[in-house]
Parts: sequence; structure tokens; C-alpha cells
Amino acid sequence: MSRKVKAAVFPVAGRGTRFLPATKASPKEMLPVVDKPLIQYAVEEAVAAGATKLVFVTGSSKRAIEDHFDTDVELERALTEGGKNDLLRSIQGIVPRGVSCVYIRQGEPLGLGHAVLCARPAVGDEPFFVHLADDLIKGEPGCLAQMASEHAEHGGSVIAVETVPREHTSSYGIVAVDASNRNRITQIVEKPAPEHAPSNSAVVGRYLLVPEIFDKLEKTGRGAGGEIQLTDGIADLLGESPVYAYSFDGVRYDCGSKLGYLQATVAYGLEHPDTGESFREYLRNSVCE
Ligand code: G1P
Repeated sequence: MSRKVKAAVFPVAGRGTRFLPATKASPKEMLPVVDKPLIQYAVEEAVAAGATKLVFVTGSSKRAIEDHFDTDVELERALTEGGKNDLLRSIQGIVPRGVSCVYIRQGEPLGLGHAVLCARPAVGDEPFFVHLADDLIKGEPGCLAQMASEHAEHGGSVIAVETVPREHTSSYGIVAVDASNRNRITQIVEKPAPEHAPSNSAVVGRYLLVPEIFDKLEKTGRGAGGEIQLTDGIADLLGESPVYAYSFDGVRYDCGSKLGYLQATVAYGLEHPDTGESFREYLRNSVCE
């Protein structure tokens, strides 16, 4: 019924204005949570879900992302000579063997739907993941692996959703589902005002899409915010091919917002082997008065 998902698309062309000045010269996807940039968490989640082709849709000032996933011969030599084997392993394992990276430039910032369409030549006629690195999801197995299992069992497209407060619907794609049919999506709307939202079930940044979405995106005009929205392409797909809303196991941190980013830093810092214990003690003494 379903095909294995091999390609993962990472739209990374956005400017990250909410984090200026930090993101003036450096991509928002390179913001670190403890010791890894957001985009590395993204790649690790996709690889753990079986992806072997990583497709980055990039824009201007995104060179750092390419450099991050490339081999740094000089740094490796210096770490080898210094006997810093743990650090050496940490940079050598960033892209596992058998996994390839493809970079595609999104010439103009026309929106998420357009970014996904730019990946078409690299993805081909196969189901694929879309991962938005801003949404960091802590879960084991990872969110994409959970979605891949759903797809393997039932086929169709799968979109991760989470319940949000009604007053936040205008920040998300919002879905209505048929609960009697495995939460098949019946309606999806980009960033509706609370009074127009069909529910408070919000799309978070994980999608497993069938390749038929590309034909829909070819025809999608500008929508919310004057951009070509992935949500609108998906809305066009609903009548022809099943799209399921998936409530994942895990905690999502909205690292596109300062508060969410700080919350992620605390959560990951508390679990990191280098910092966990001392960070916990620090928080106990300095924060919990
Ligand atoms: C994008 C999508 C939106 C989705 C959100 C999840 O919006 O367009 O449907 O709910 O990601 O993070 P953005 O946050 O890029 O404005």
C-alpha cells in the first residue's frame, strides 16, 4: 500500500526576522540548542525515520548550513592531532554514511509551498518528508519515524498536528478531521482568525506527503500573506488522496519564538550528559526561590 520514504525536504530559505540581530548573517536554522544547531536535530530526526536523501531548499546567507554538513578536513586533522576523539566523532557523524545532501536555491521567497515545489526535481515521484526545523520535537521514536510507521500501515499523506489555544489559530495551518475515518483531514486552512478556524488542531512542522502534491502546488496561487502556501496545495489534494492528521507522541518547542527557544534550551540542557546535573542544580538554586 505504501512506499518507503527516502527523501526529506528542509525549507531553510526563510530570513528568521524574529531572531534579529542573531540571524542577520547566520541562518536561524543554525541557532544552537545546547551544542547542536536546529538543522542538525532536524537531519537526525529524518535519518532516524529512514531518509537517505536530504534536500535543503536554501536562500541567501545560508552557506553556513552547507558548510555544517560538509567535511571539514582541517578541523578533523586538528582534532585528530590533539587526540580529541570524542569531538572528532561528533563532527564526523553529522551526515551518516549512505546519506546524501542536495542543495536547491529558492530564487525568490515566495512561500513554503513554493519552497517545497523547488524540491521536486530532487524528490521525484516518491512520498517524502517535509521538516520545518523551527519546530523542535522531543520524542522517541522521533516524530517523522512515528509518521512513517503510520504511512507504512495505511498509506496516504500524514501531517503532524497539535491542539493549540484558540487565540493562536492565526499562527498555524488549522485542520478539521473526520474522527470516524482515522482523522482523515476534511478541511485545512492557513492561519485563520479564531472566529473562522474550523478547530484548534494546528499543523506543526512535519509532513509526509505523496508526490501528487507537486502537481497541486504547480497550480497554487498566492494565499495568506501573499505567499504560495503549502496548506493551500494540501487543501487541493484532500478530495483526491487521503491526508491524515497525526497526533504525535512528544513535546514540541516552537524555536521560531524566543520563549519556545529558551524552553527548548532548558529541556535539552537538563538532559544533556555534559550539563544535565549541574544545570539542574543551577536552576534549583537560582530560579526556584
Ligand atoms: C508554517 C505553515 C503552517 C504551519 C506552521 C508550523 O507556517 O505555513 O501551516 O502550521 O508552519 O510551524 P510558518 O510558521 O512558517 O509561518
